[in-house]
Amino acid sequence: MTFELRNGPNILALGRTAAQACEALWPLLLQAADWRRHGRGPAPRLTAVHDPRLGMHHHDGQWQLHGAWPMAAHELAGPLLPLVADVPADASRVVGQLGQSLDGQVATEGGDSGALNGPEALTHLHRLRALCDAVLVGTGTAVADNPRLTTRRVNGPHPTRVVLDVHLRVPPESGLFTDGIAPTLLACDERDRARAAERVGGHQVLAVPGLVDDRGQVVWPALLARLRERGLATVLVEGGGVTVSRCLAQGVLDRLHLMVAPVLIGQGRPGVQLPPVQRMSQCLRPRARAYRLGDDVLWDLDLRGADPS
Ligand SMILES: NC(=O)c1ccc[n+]([C@@H]2O[C@H](COP(=O)([O-])OP(=O)(O)OC[C@H]3O[C@@H](n4cnc5c(N)ncnc54)[C@H](OP(=O)(O)O)[C@@H]3O)[C@@H](O)[C@H]2O)c1
Repeated sequence: MTFELRNGPNILALGRTAAQACEALWPLLLQAADWRRHGRGPAPRLTAVHDPRLGMHHHDGQWQLHGAWPMAAHELAGPLLPLVADVPADASRVVGQLGQSLDGQVATEGGDSGALNGPEALTHLHRLRALCDAVLVGTGTAVADNPRLTTRRVNGPHPTRVVLDVHLRVPPESGLFTDGIAPTLLACDERDRARAAERVGGHQVLAVPGLVDDRGQVVWPALLARLRERGLATVLVEGGGVTVSRCLAQGVLDRLHLMVAPVLIGQGRPGVQLPPVQRMSQCLRPRARAYRLGDDVLWDLDLRGADPS
């Protein structure tokens, strides 16, 4: 107890400084994302209101922190800065995310993933949504979770919500199509346009020519190109395990944020699943950095150019 009392004020002071710095940094990240969306001409130099010596500048297509930011700010910015990078007009940036248990499950067998990750990880997820133009989920997630996919834990815009529903299985009365909180698009193949429009209204349908190939697989470049036409260049693929795994297997993801919670689920809904290989040398070994998010650990995987080790 004595120890705690003696050290309490220092710990509090440190905590406040770090929290204040993160509070100052978040609007700069939002501004950088906004400049990427709408900006023409040179990137502005972004500075913190309470201390103009602290800021962000744009260099070589990336934003970098300048000034003496505390470690907590670097930890916040590290996994988020790549999302506000320049995106060429003919390209997309795609980041996947999965919150998973230590044993690699994203939900229980019954489909419950509600309390898997802690509050800091959830806040990180909402920051990802706020920095991306679109957040996409697969049919399984839309059906099991009836998610809102908003940014209610942070300041920042809601992304456009995209439900990849090639067999039109998501109930039209789902909140995503009816709550009006943010725009929602049901992504389906062009040949299903009329049926999809009947279900959710034509304005909520993103019909993509050639979305599904002969083997029933989603052709991601076709989907991403249609999203770019709508001004949606940065896409967060939020789950579930099947959708993120297929993106990963097809080389669609630029980055993957795996938020690992200290919980063991046992048999459940698996996270990343890739085709089997025989040797460790054939496994994907991307550049990776780990960040602490409360009790959870965020693994930020850079998949650009990632090859088997
Ligand atoms: N912890 C987390 O971060 C997290 C995040 C999201 C969801 N979840 C949990 O994950 C569970 C749902 O995940 P899930 O993996 O079962 O479902 P999912 O990934 O949401 O959806 C899978 C379905 O999407 C369609 N699909 C996706 N990619 C496709 C492709 N490349 N080609 C063809 N079809 C494709 C298929 O639908 P069809 O069957 O119609 O062909 C497939 O069955 C829920 O329990 C949810 O709570 C957890």
